[in-house]
Amino acid sequence: MRRLLLPLPLPCLLLPPLLLLLPAEVRCTIACTEDCSPENVTAETRTSSNDNLSVNSTSGNKTYGGGKSSGDVSLSDGAISDWNNVTQPSMVFDLKAEYVGVTSVNLTWQNDTASSVYKYRIEVVNGTSVRNLTSYVTKAEITELIPGTLYNFTVFAITNNGETEGEGVSISLYTKSSPVLDLKAEYVGVTSVNLTWVVNDTASSSYTYRIEVVNDTSVWNLMSNVTEVKITELLPGTMYNFKVFARPVNNMSEEEGLSISLYTKPSAVLNLKAEYVGKNSVKLTWAVSDAASNSYTYRIEVVNGTSFWNLTSNVTEVEITELIPGTLYNFTVFAVVADGLTEGEGLSVRWYTKPSAVLNLKAEYVGKNSVKLTWAVSDAASNSYTYRIEVVNDTSVWNLTSNVTEVEITELIPGTMYNFTVFAITNSGETEGEGVSICLYTGACEHEY
Ligand SMILES: *[C@@H]1O[C@H](CO)[C@@H](O)[C@H](O)[C@H]1NC(C)=O
Ligand SMILES: *[C@@H]1O[C@H](CO)[C@@H](O)[C@H](O)[C@H]1NC(C)=O
Ligand SMILES: *[C@@H]1O[C@H](CO)[C@@H](O)[C@H](O)[C@H]1NC(C)=O
Ligand SMILES: *[C@@H]1O[C@H](CO)[C@@H](O)[C@H](O)[C@H]1NC(C)=O
Ligand SMILES: *[C@@H]1O[C@H](CO)[C@@H](O)[C@H](O)[C@H]1NC(C)=O
Ligand SMILES: *[C@@H]1O[C@H](CO)[C@@H](O)[C@H](O)[C@H]1NC(C)=O
Ligand SMILES: *[C@@H]1O[C@H](CO)[C@@H](O)[C@H](O)[C@H]1NC(C)=O
Ligand SMILES: *[C@@H]1O[C@H](CO)[C@@H](O)[C@H](O)[C@H]1NC(C)=O
Ligand SMILES: *[C@@H]1O[C@H](CO)[C@@H](O)[C@H](O)[C@H]1NC(C)=O
Ligand SMILES: *[C@@H]1O[C@H](CO)[C@@H](O)[C@H](O)[C@H]1NC(C)=O
Ligand SMILES: *[C@@H]1O[C@H](CO)[C@@H](O)[C@H](O)[C@H]1NC(C)=O
Ligand SMILES: *[C@@H]1O[C@H](CO)[C@@H](O)[C@H](O)[C@H]1NC(C)=O
Repeated sequence: MRRLLLPLPLPCLLLPPLLLLLPAEVRCTIACTEDCSPENVTAETRTSSNDNLSVNSTSGNKTYGGGKSSGDVSLSDGAISDWNNVTQPSMVFDLKAEYVGVTSVNLTWQNDTASSVYKYRIEVVNGTSVRNLTSYVTKAEITELIPGTLYNFTVFAITNNGETEGEGVSISLYTKSSPVLDLKAEYVGVTSVNLTWVVNDTASSSYTYRIEVVNDTSVWNLMSNVTEVKITELLPGTMYNFKVFARPVNNMSEEEGLSISLYTKPSAVLNLKAEYVGKNSVKLTWAVSDAASNSYTYRIEVVNGTSFWNLTSNVTEVEITELIPGTLYNFTVFAVVADGLTEGEGLSVRWYTKPSAVLNLKAEYVGKNSVKLTWAVSDAASNSYTYRIEVVNDTSVWNLTSNVTEVEITELIPGTMYNFTVFAITNSGETEGEGVSICLYTGACEHEY
C-alpha cells in the first residue's frame, strides 16, 4: 500500500475557510507537494489511505470520481470537488469478451455517461510482452493474437485532456487453440490404432489434446500431451470415429475437433482347412471369432508358382475351381471389414490338387509269376508324379511304387486272379488321384505269351 495521496488532503482539509475563497488550482499548487499532481494521482491504482482519507480503488467495477463517491471514499464536500477536478474519469465497467477466436478477440465494455471520456487505451499483455491499442468506442477488436495463449486485456478510460486515465479494468482469457490438422492413422491394428496429427502454431507445445473415441454404442475420452496417441482395447473389425481437440494447457476451451473414421482390422481367420480336394477344385472352410464378423467378407488369394488370383466370399467357405490337377497351390484367406478395404492378417494352407486318373492301363506282359503294367498320364504336372500300385488277390493286399509309368510285379502265384490298381501321387506324397484297375490271371504254365 503506497501513500502517494497523503500530502494532498491534509492542508486542504485543515483550512476550510481558505478553501472556499480560493480557486482549487491555486490552492492545491500552494498547499500540496508534487505528489498532488494529476499524473501522480492517476498513476496510482492501488489502495491509498491516511487519517482522513481512504480511497479503495481495487474492486473491479466501482466508479468513483465523476461526481460519485463510494463507501470507501471519505472526504469533505470541498475535498470531493477538488478530487473530481484532478483525478480519474469514471472507470469502464462490464468488460467482456464478446467473441474469442484463434487469433482475435472482440471486447466490449460500458462507460460512465457522466464522465468526459473520449477514448480508451487497451493494454494487451501476454506474459512479458505488452502492447497498447486505442479505441474511441466501447468495443475493440484485438487481432494478431497467438492461438491458445493466455492474454490479459486491461481497458483504461482517458479523459478529454488526453492525459488522465481512469482505473483499468482487466479481463484474462485464452485465445482458442488453432485447429488440429492432418489427422491420420499411422497404424491400424486389430485392437489398437495409432493416430498422429499436426498443429500449426507456436503455442502448440503447451497444448493438450483430447481424443474422443466413438463407436455405435459408446464414447470415451483420452488425453495426450503430444501430437500422437495410441488407442487400445478396441474391438476387431469395428468402425470407430476418433476426434481430436486441441486445448491450451490448463484450459478447457477447445476449437472444433478434427475427426477420422476407420475400421480396426479383423482378427485372422481360424481353422482354415480343405474340406474337399479334387483334381480341378478345392473347397476351403474356416472360422472367425470376432463379434463384428457378421459384416465380414473374405478375400481368398490363390497362388500357384508365379501366377495368382483372388476370389471373394461372403461366407466362411469357398470352392475354388479351374485348378490344374496334381499341382501345389497356396491358398490364403483374409477377413475384410465392411469398408471392403481393411483386411486382417491372412491365414494360409498349401494343398496339391489331386492328379488325374492314369490312362490306358494295360498289361504289357503276363507271366506265371509276374506281370508288367504300363499306363499313361496327361497332367501337365505329371513329371513330378510317383505311382502306387495296389496288388490284390483273394487273400492278400500289397503295394508297390514306381517313379515311371510302368511297373513289373513279380512273385505272383501262377493261375491266380489279381486286381492291380494304379494311383498317381503328387511329389509330396500327400495327394493321390483316383485309382484305375485291371484284373488279370497269371499264367498257369511256365511259358510266356
Ligand atoms: C510522482 O511522485 C514521485 C514522488 O514525488 C515522483 O518521483 C514521480 O516522478 C511522480 N510521478 C509523476 C508521473 O509525476
Ligand atoms: C477495499 O475493498 C476491498 C473489497 O471490497 C476490501 O476487502 C478492503 O478491505 C478495502 N480496503 C480498504 C483500505 O478499505
Ligand atoms: C460489477 O458489475 C457487475 C455487472 O454490472 C455486477 O454483477 C457486480 O456485482 C459488480 N461488482 C462489484 C464489486 O460491484
Ligand atoms: C473543476 O475545475 C474547474 C476549473 O478548472 C471548475 O470550473 C469546475 O467547476 C470544477 N468542477 C468541480 C466539479 O468542482
Ligand atoms: C460513453 O457513453 C456514452 C453513453 O453511452 C456515449 O454516448 C459515448 O459515446 C461514450 N463514450 C465513448 C468514448 O465511448
Ligand atoms: C507474447 O507475444 C509475443 C509476440 O506476439 C511472443 O513473441 C511471445 O512468445 C508471447 N509470450 C507468451 C508467453 O506467449
Ligand atoms: C502503453 O501506454 C502506457 C500509457 O500511455 C505507457 O505507459 C506504456 O509504456 C505503453 N506501452 C507500450 C508497450 O506502448
Ligand atoms: C469483431 O469486431 C469486428 C470489428 O468491430 C467485427 O467486424 C467482427 O465481425 C467482430 N467479430 C465477431 C465474431 O463478433
Ligand atoms: C491483468 O492486468 C491487470 C493490470 O495490470 C492486473 O491487475 C491483473 O492482475 C492481471 N491479471 C492477470 C490474470 O494477470
Ligand atoms: C503452417 O503455417 C505456415 C505459416 O502460416 C504455412 O505456410 C503452412 O502451410 C501451414 N501448414 C499447414 C499444414 O497448414
Ligand atoms: C463399442 O466399444 C465398446 C468398447 O470397446 C464395446 O464394449 C462395445 O461393444 C462397442 N460397440 C459396438 C457396437 O461395437
Ligand atoms: C503406436 O504408438 C505407440 C505409442 O506412441 C508406440 O509405442 C508404437 O510403436 C506405435 N506403433 C506403431 C505401429 O506405430
